[in-house]
This record gives sequence, C-alpha cells and structure tokens, in this order.
Amino acid sequence: MKGNELRQAYLKFFESKQHLILDSFSLIPENDPSLLLIGAGMAPLKPFFTGKLVPPRTRVTTCQKCIRTGDIENVGRTARHHTFFEMLGNFSFGDYFKKDAIHWAWEFLTEVIKLDKNRLYVTVYPDDQEAYDIWHKEVGMPEDHITRLEDNFWEIGEGPCGPDSEIFYDLGESRGCGEPDCAPGCDCDRYLEIWNLVFTQFNRTADGEYVPLEKKNIDTGAGLERLASVLQNKESNFETDLIFPIIEKAAEMAKVTYHTDANTDVSLKVIGDHARAITVLISDGVLPSNEGRGYVLRRILRRAVRHGRLLGIEGRFLTDLVDVVIDILGSGVPGLIEKHDFIKRVVANEEDRFNQTLAQGLDMLGALINELKEADATDVPGAEVFKLYDTYGFPWELTEEIAGEAGLTIDMAGFESAMAEQRARARAAREDVDAKVATPDITFLRDEKLSDDESATSSEILMLGEGATRLDNASDGMEVTLIVRTTPFHAEGGGQLGDTGFIVGPMGKMEVHTTKKLPEGTTYHVGTIVEGNLQVGDTVQFEVDTTRRLAMARNHTATHLLHAALKQVLGNHVNQAGSLVMPDRLRFDFTHFSPVTAEELKQITDLVNGEILKAVSLNIQEMSMDEAKKLGAMALFGEKYGDRVRVVTVPDFSIELCGGSHVVNTAVIGTFRILSEGGIGSGVRRIEAVTGEAALQLAQKEQAELREVATLLKTKPEDIVVRAQQLVEETKQLEHELAAARKELMSGGLDAVLNTAFDADSFKAVVADVKAADMDELRSTADMVRDKIGSGIVLLGMANDDKVNFVCMATKDAVKAGFHAGNIVKATAQAAGGNGGGRPDMAQAGGKNPSALETALEKGKETILSMVK
Ligand code: ALA
Repeated sequence: MKGNELRQAYLKFFESKQHLILDSFSLIPENDPSLLLIGAGMAPLKPFFTGKLVPPRTRVTTCQKCIRTGDIENVGRTARHHTFFEMLGNFSFGDYFKKDAIHWAWEFLTEVIKLDKNRLYVTVYPDDQEAYDIWHKEVGMPEDHITRLEDNFWEIGEGPCGPDSEIFYDLGESRGCGEPDCAPGCDCDRYLEIWNLVFTQFNRTADGEYVPLEKKNIDTGAGLERLASVLQNKESNFETDLIFPIIEKAAEMAKVTYHTDANTDVSLKVIGDHARAITVLISDGVLPSNEGRGYVLRRILRRAVRHGRLLGIEGRFLTDLVDVVIDILGSGVPGLIEKHDFIKRVVANEEDRFNQTLAQGLDMLGALINELKEADATDVPGAEVFKLYDTYGFPWELTEEIAGEAGLTIDMAGFESAMAEQRARARAAREDVDAKVATPDITFLRDEKLSDDESATSSEILMLGEGATRLDNASDGMEVTLIVRTTPFHAEGGGQLGDTGFIVGPMGKMEVHTTKKLPEGTTYHVGTIVEGNLQVGDTVQFEVDTTRRLAMARNHTATHLLHAALKQVLGNHVNQAGSLVMPDRLRFDFTHFSPVTAEELKQITDLVNGEILKAVSLNIQEMSMDEAKKLGAMALFGEKYGDRVRVVTVPDFSIELCGGSHVVNTAVIGTFRILSEGGIGSGVRRIEAVTGEAALQLAQKEQAELREVATLLKTKPEDIVVRAQQLVEETKQLEHELAAARKELMSGGLDAVLNTAFDADSFKAVVADVKAADMDELRSTADMVRDKIGSGIVLLGMANDDKVNFVCMATKDAVKAGFHAGNIVKATAQAAGGNGGGRPDMAQAGGKNPSALETALEKGKETILSMVK
C-alpha cells in the first residue's frame, strides 16, 4: 500500500465510524504562543479537549503535519527520526472512550491494512486494568503480548493528559538486540511503536495536580511514515515511497548510490527528511529569518545544503527536490500544489545566499578544527562560532554538529555574549541610520505617479535601497529604505514622528522603524528586513501600527487645542515656536515673556478639556492658501506650503494648516493633562502634556502614590491633606521644643565651660572642648561664652568623626592688649594636624586628628599665656 493510500484509508476508516475528517492544521499554531510549531496531532485541537471551543463534531480524524527539531542531530542516523512527519489521529471529545478506541485501532490494523496479528504487541499503564482487559478479553490479545509499563502516560505540560496504550509491531529477531528481556519498550529496533492511544481523562493544572476531566477524551497518534515502512516492508521510513524518491533524486544529482557507504546514506537521509520539512514550512508561510520559526526553517535548510556539499553537489539543488516532495505529497497535503512556485523561489533565494559563503565557511571551520585539535583544545571559541554565524551564515547548531563530528564542543556562553554585543551594536547603528538615513537617487521615479493614501492596504515596491545604493532585492537582516507607489504610512513632519509597522511581501517582511519624506515630497520607509526577502516589483501589504498612530493623532489634535487655548488665555502674542508630537506625549514651545501661572495653566487645561468633553468633530480640508487665509488659519512656524494646503479645523475653536494625523472627533482624545511648563530661552516657554492612555496611566500612578502616602501617614487618601497639615504642625512644635531643650542643655554646659576660666594678665580666658553639631553651633557657643565673660579670650574646640574644629574669639580690649585670635587658633590647629588662622578678634581652624584635641587645646592655652606681656 502506498503512503498516500494509507493516509486516505485511515481517514476513510474513521469517517466510517462517524468521524469528521478535518484537513491538517497549519504548522503555525493559532492562538497558542506557548508553541513555536505544531508537533503532535492533538496540539491544534487543545481548545476542544479543554472545552474552550466547541468542536465541529465530537469525533474528528486528521492527518496532521508535524515538525519536531528536538533531536535533529539524530535525523539521518536512525531509522525513524524526522524533523517533518505526518501524524494520523482519531479524536473523541467527550464521546467514545477506551473500548471503542482499542477495538477500532485493532480493526484498522488487522482488517483494513491487514497486519499480521501475531506480530502485534501492546503496552498499558500498570494501573489500567480496564485497558488490559479490553485488549486481552475482548480483542483476544494473548497475555504474553501485553506489557504493563510505567512510562505509558502521555502529557505535554499543562492540559489534557492520561494513561496510554501503545501498539508495537515486531520487525523480527534479526532487528533486535538479542537480550533475553527484549520486549516492547526496549530501545532496540525490533519492536516498532506504530500507534499511541491516549485516554485523556485528567487535566494537569499549573501546580502539577491531575484533576479528573468531566468528560473523557481520546487522542491517538500513528506515524504515517512508520506505518508505511511496515506495510511496504522497508528497513526504515526513508525507504518508503513517502521519502525515497527524494533520496533517489539527490543521489542522482550527487552521482552516488544509496546503500554503498554509511556516511553517504546519512547525508542522503538528511536531505530526504529536510527537503520535506522545508517545503511544508514554507507552504505554511514560514520564511527564513534569524528568529523563531524562520530560524528553524533556516537551520534545517542550511543543514541540508551542507549535506549536499558533503555529497559533492555544487550549487543549487534543493529547488529540484521541492518538485519531488510536491510530487509525492501534493495530493495528500493541502496547499502544496498551489504554492509550488512560491516555495521554490523562497528555497532558491535562501540556498543561493548560503552557497555564497558556505565553501569559505567550511574551509575556515576545517582549518580551525585542525588547529584546535593540534593544540589539544576541546572547545571551539564562542567568537569563532559567532564569526561563522555572522559572516558565513552558519547557524550555531550547524557549527556544533560539524565540530561534534571532530570530537569538539562549542563555547556557547562565548557565542551568546558575542551575539548580545552585536545586537547592541546593531541597535545603536540603527538609531544612527534612522536619524540620518541616506536615500538613493530617485530621479528614475520622476514619471511615476506616487501618492499617500491612509486607506491603502497594498501597493507595489518601486525602489529599495541600502544607504545610497539601489537594490533589486533585499534579504533579512538588511537595513533598507523602501518606496511604494501608494503608502498609508504617514511621514514624519510638522513635529509628528513617522509611522511604524510592517510591510509584508510575498516572500518577506520589513519592519518599518520610521517613515520620512524626501525634500520634493516622496514618502519613503526606513527599516529592517526581518524575514525572507523583498524585491522591486513585489506587491506588498501594509500593517501600520495604528494604535501608535492614534496616540499621536490624540496628541496632535490636543496640540492644536492647546495652541488656541494659550492664545485665549495669555493673549495673541503667543505663537508656536516648535512642536513635537510623539505617541506618549506632546511638547509645545511658544513665545511668551513670563512664567504661566498656576491659575492660567488651569484655565488652559479646562479650555482644552472643555473642547474634548464637547465631542467636536474635526473638519479636515484641502484648499488654496488664499482660501485658508480667508478662513483665518494660523500658518505654522517655519513650514513651507505649495499652492494647496490642508486645513485642520476644530469648529469655533482652532484652525491650522497641518499635514499631520488627527482624531476624527475631539472626544477621542479622552483627556488632557499638562505635565510641566517652563522657560527654554529668552521669551520662549515649553509645555509638555499627555492625552488618552498616557493621561490615564498618569492618573493611575498618582492614585497609587496617593494610597501609598496615605498608608505611610496611617490615614485614608481623602484625609491626607489634613493629616499632612497636622504632621507639619507637629514637626514645627517638636523643632521648637528641641531647640529649647538644646539651649537648656547648652547653658548647663556653658556653666561648666565658664568654670574653667583662668586669668591671662588682667583678662579672663576660657579654653574648653564642647559638643556642637556643626561649625555654626560652635561659633554661637563661643559667642555666648564671650558675652558671659565680657572681656577676654575664648578658645573652643570640638571633635567630630574624623576631624577637629576650633574657634577663637577675643574681645576688643583684649586685642588691644596684644591677644590675637588668629595666632592662637593657628597654633592650636597645628597641634591637631591642621592649620588655619584669621582676624585678631575672631578666627577658626580645623585639624585632621580628633584624638589630639586635648593636646591642641593645651597648646592653645600656652599660646594665650605666652601673649601676656
Ligand atoms: N498525542 C499523542 C502523541 O503525540 C497521541 O503521541
């Protein structure tokens, strides 16, 4: 039985059991961000199992395209590993359960495709007596063909799961390991698992709990290629008619013969498998890129190209194999025939691109491996892995595999850090490019009619450029400028940033970072090709980031309202001096000669919000400059207009010439809040404000802060003002009390200080160390002491952490008598590792050595006494 007949026979058999046949779902999971690609028949049906969606029927059967790359390095080296395979399955959503599932599986295997009953074996979950009994008592499976296996429980993370029963086909002793305990479940090739019946009766929760499902389900999976290998009596899946013609074609191109050399066979099998995967991935819309699914495709395709090279094939060969794949699968897998040409174009592009650097990359890696082996190294350095990736287009997994063949591993951490550095460089470079992008000469477009049209959904690429160079096509990773005949993207202008989004072609996609206008008015897009390839002449679809644009439209209309409100409140002298309209905020510069008061800001805000609350529809019209002037439109600062101008009116409030994005009705703005007002130059002031979502977020943030403050003040948000006033009062009171307490303390201390007074000639002198918080306090203490003694000399010192300070004062008469505060303090400070000096009546100084405070004061005392004549 041919593979295609087997697929049909399975689906028809289950159709006869009232199952609805559904086409294979796309390999790209729908609404399931947790999965990169579909890898099991049940994966796209999860919402039917969990009850999230109602299935079209409670019995469904499919032949599902699956991709698994978990052990891609085994592909080509074993009989049954694949990146792409088809999984036959029958599913019950709360309908039939174990009994029917087992009976029908048996019926299909033994009556429809007529497998030898004696070669069939099954395994069941140890606790699952019910399944055991159905197999043994009802089906008649002999006990020595049934094994209980702990492994027989099928689950993938969260979601529906349950015990399963696997069906095996005995390929015969010659394929076995010969061990006495060899049985189904053994790792050797003898018992081939051909079908898995899962009795999904639990839902595994996020906490790992198994909750019994209200309705029990059936999920089964039988590998089409495996079943075909049994039916066609082949040693491996690769020799079935589902794959072998691809191998034959590749062998013919390489002028080699299958089954003459083990290495050749591996390469042929890799190519046989990968050609199928590439074809179906592209038919489902995956395009080569350096991320996600696009990277999976690139990796598989480049691995295939390398194996082609190992076989001695030069140049492009995969495109021819796509023909063979579609020849085999076209009738059974929907979508392949219609996309035949497209798939070949994508493959050709990617193959050619890799071929340009493959030989050099292989040479470099070969030489490197030799060097490393000679140096007894075990690791290919990360920087080299990165160079192979970046310069020669080698997916790191390919380098790892080639290095592995030579017994080396790769330094993954080093590779990742080189990659992170490059990303940062690329980001910086891109910001640079976006800021001052060069565009090619576009005079060749002179006779084309180009236009801007917000409603355009698709158009044709007229120009692609990289810097000043014109290109025919551009592939992923390139930073380009692009011009289409009609674009819905708004260009940067009038203070508003350019639109962003995606431009999607038949074979690739560009992420638009900004949109600009050339001086003569042509709109062009600046961005990165993120997957596949774009060509001049391609028809492309537009995906403008309309959420971002709407946010800018809110801010732009609000800017006009603000402008008009400023004139109303501050006077007609207010004129626009600059404006920036971004998605998250607006900035408006205007002429005015004094700060705008809080009251004026409130009036302005109220006026703008008043227009928003009135829900006024805007009027946007093109007209001649004269007509516009008659209407009283404000001309914008520094803008030049042609004969026709665009006039944006908020009836009875604002009228301006403007080419930017606006809301249809002021109510769309939602709300307007001023963030700040300030001067930025002589006579120019700046207001920053938010609208819409940003204003709401601001309000939410303030509310959260208010709650936090209320919690800190141990009160309710509505009482925080009263509570804060209370606290301010309390603090004042406390400060007052503290000052009084200090004073009292100090005057007590002062007595002690005064008690140390001694005579210096006819004067009183006081030398003491005191406690003071800072220099100010030290000085005022000295003042007090001086006032108390009336006539004489005061020298005070204090030690604080790592320094000492001194103050010396002498009354006028003491100075006259020859005492000199500056000299006293100088001598004192020097004794404490410092210096200083000053006037004869008042001086201060510091030292670095607090422990010398006492000695220093002693020195001060000596100095005072030495001044006695
Ligand atoms: N979901 C089961 C499997 O993939 C049938 O093996």
